[in-house]
Amino acid sequence: MIGHRFSAAAETYDRHARPQLALAQSVVAFLPEIYPEQILELGAGTGQLTRLLAEHFPDVLIDAVDVAEKMVTHSRSKFTRFPQINWIVADAQTYRGNDPYPLIVSSAALHWVVDLTATCANIFQCLEPGGTFALGMMLSGTLKELHDLRQEIAPEKTPLISLPTYEETVAALGAAGFRIERRMHSEEEILYDDARAFFQAIHEQGVTGGKVSAGNAPLSRTELSQLVADYQESFTTDGGVYATYETATFLLTK
Ligand SMILES: C[S@@+](CC[C@H](N)C(=O)[O-])C[C@H]1O[C@@H](n2cnc3c(N)ncnc32)[C@H](O)[C@@H]1O
Repeated sequence: MIGHRFSAAAETYDRHARPQLALAQSVVAFLPEIYPEQILELGAGTGQLTRLLAEHFPDVLIDAVDVAEKMVTHSRSKFTRFPQINWIVADAQTYRGNDPYPLIVSSAALHWVVDLTATCANIFQCLEPGGTFALGMMLSGTLKELHDLRQEIAPEKTPLISLPTYEETVAALGAAGFRIERRMHSEEEILYDDARAFFQAIHEQGVTGGKVSAGNAPLSRTELSQLVADYQESFTTDGGVYATYETATFLLTK
């Protein structure tokens, strides 16, 4: 239940969302010189990208969609100074606006969908001909240190599903009919004070219960303590412990 998990994380997400903020910034940096009449944002969450969009396009109407009801309620109350943002509870996999949009954006959200190809096809239908889709994706290499360690500690509790690869994402976008105008693919190590701070951060981002790191059964208390201790030992570097985030940013047209 992705909606439920992110709702639970709504209050704490922003304090621990550095990689997500960097991805949102790269999505905005990719935007061409356009001034659309309306924007659709998919998976708006706590509004990190939404805020950047509202600053970049003052007065443009933004339909900010998220599947987690509590996340939408939280953001709606936080963004009362931005009446141009319309907060909507809906699923990016099936959402259709009344009219096609000239600009659609999404950051750090579409890796959660069950069928990325079908979701991209749906987004293609939401976009007007000649329209722009700017997309930031979290990819399969994200938190790879944690996945490998978890596999060693509890091999029978394997993750149910994994994040899409770069190649799968490119294929899904191509199959939907998008033309890739620009792309950037990167892998970055993010530093945390220590393993405990890292686990706290990913828990508060709302990712620990999800497909990024969840297995088919929860770890026991002992397994979790071992995971934290082993992470500290294995992935310590100057100034803390590190975790990899693999991301891609795309500028696409219809
Ligand atoms: C990691 S947060 C990112 C939020 C924001 N875009 C940012 O950059 O900080 C992912 C968000 O995507 C939402 N989400 C996941 N699957 C979704 C779907 N199928 N439709 C709409 N929103 C979805 C989650 O509820 C969550 O709020």
